Amino acid sequence: RPLTKRICCIGAGYVGGPTCAVIAQQNPHIEVTVVDLDEVRIAQWRSSNLPIFEPGLSAIVEVTRDGTDGRQPNLFFSTAISAAIQQADIIFIAVNTPTKRMGVGAGSASDLGYVESAARMIANAAPADKIIVEKSTVPCGTAERLRSIFASLAPARSFSILSNPEFLAEGTAIKDLLNPDRVLIGSLKDDRSMSAARELASVYSWVPHDRVVHTNLYSSELAKLAANCLLAQRISSINSLSAICEATGADISEVANAVSLDQRIGRHMLKASAGFGGSCFKKDVLSLVYIAESLHLYDVANYWRAVNSINEHQKSRFTSRVISALHGTLLRKKITIFGWAYKKNTGDTRESASISVAAQLLAEGCELAVYDPQVSTNAQQIYRDLEDIGTNIRERVRVWDNAVDACVDACAVLILTEWDHFKTDMLADTSTLPENCTAASSDSGIDMLDDGLDLPTAKSVVHDAFNKSDRVDWCAIASVVQRPRLVFDGRGVVDPVALGALGFRVESIGKASVT
Ligand code: NAI
Repeated sequence: RPLTKRICCIGAGYVGGPTCAVIAQQNPHIEVTVVDLDEVRIAQWRSSNLPIFEPGLSAIVEVTRDGTDGRQPNLFFSTAISAAIQQADIIFIAVNTPTKRMGVGAGSASDLGYVESAARMIANAAPADKIIVEKSTVPCGTAERLRSIFASLAPARSFSILSNPEFLAEGTAIKDLLNPDRVLIGSLKDDRSMSAARELASVYSWVPHDRVVHTNLYSSELAKLAANCLLAQRISSINSLSAICEATGADISEVANAVSLDQRIGRHMLKASAGFGGSCFKKDVLSLVYIAESLHLYDVANYWRAVNSINEHQKSRFTSRVISALHGTLLRKKITIFGWAYKKNTGDTRESASISVAAQLLAEGCELAVYDPQVSTNAQQIYRDLEDIGTNIRERVRVWDNAVDACVDACAVLILTEWDHFKTDMLADTSTLPENCTAASSDSGIDMLDDGLDLPTAKSVVHDAFNKSDRVDWCAIASVVQRPRLVFDGRGVVDPVALGALGFRVESIGKASVT
């Protein structure tokens, strides 16, 4: 039985919340308290309207926080940070580590201000020795800095500092936490630190022993950065190839499939897109660039910097393709964006490709309609994301909670998040479609298809492809958008043949333009 009775986690964000929910679920004998300075966030964690959307999360929170299945609640959310620190045996630091915005290293180095403030809170509040766990993604050497903060603020107490970076991916966080590829624990090698590492390992009671990897502190810190940088690099690699595909007639999905069959390459993270987003990849690449520069490894820094440059290039390339297909001018044209979250199954919009694409399109004078199955319920978030572009420009953005309404009179529909909701399933047999099964343009004012079929009949013909209840109704969209019914698929989620049968012209990332 593990020694740990109480855990405190500082930071109730995308990492702290789900991680602690699963730790509490798996360890009914451990009291887990997640604390944050943000009162609104804590109030949301205590309510039925959790601050983050993550498949499977609310069910676990209900059981552990509310004891709905008759078990003793052992997950708590609080702003009483000092009290939670005082009572805990293990304290996780899961605060944000954004890119520095000012001073030395601005625009590249990690801002460790939040980590340091958490450390100071611990030093001030902890009455005795504690195990401190770095969960946040930090540059290597951070644990050492923490040790010096504790040494100066609390010299009489000796804290064991461990690195235990989190590898969960948003959208699959619960699955990743319940079945992690590995749990990484970095520590010093003295007896006391090794004992702390074993105690932390015992908290991950549900993870097979051979998946718990022990390393030194630097390796653990660097491994997390390295993992994110390699993932980002892989996306930029496939995206750079997608540009060559579009110019040559090669098809990126065929190229990706062919290379993925090489076992040394494998099939993951080879999906071309309009660019990666999320709060981590860009900042972690920048952090590695800064580390390399600090070590005077300029060629190494330039190598990693290119990963982010290709990502910016990819977003601009996608936007340029839209502008060019719309004859070089967007003035007073309406464009619909499908997807605002940076990836599917999350409500997180941080660094979403949609934000950059939207800003570039708005600069051309268009009107934007935005629809996202998750984020549309929080329209203010979308306006906040566009804060930097000025109020008068934001007035040209309208958020819709219905896909078809968002598309009325649109000159183009851009798919920027790979929600299953936007998918068309491959038509099993296109010969079952009536010839010329294309929807009427909105200016006809009637829901009739070109060949005279009314929409309900056409829907029944193609319903397997388009009208699953959890899919957007592409048939209805065909009847409300402007001709030539342009769809720009920045995520490779729709079947161009299936949508072509409805009269759409689909321009897909990594495929040559349809002429
Ligand atoms: P977040 O921004 O969602 O949450 C961080 C929370 O920490 C905020 O609610 C903030 O108010 C709170 N906080 C900051 N300083 C505090 C203090 N001194 N006392 C109490 N609360 C404080 O961040 P997120 O996404 O959870 O990321 C946290 C860390 O985990 C970052 O280092 C990130 O790079 C890393 N990470 C993030 C992943 C993700 O998918 N979001 C995945 C793996 C690691």
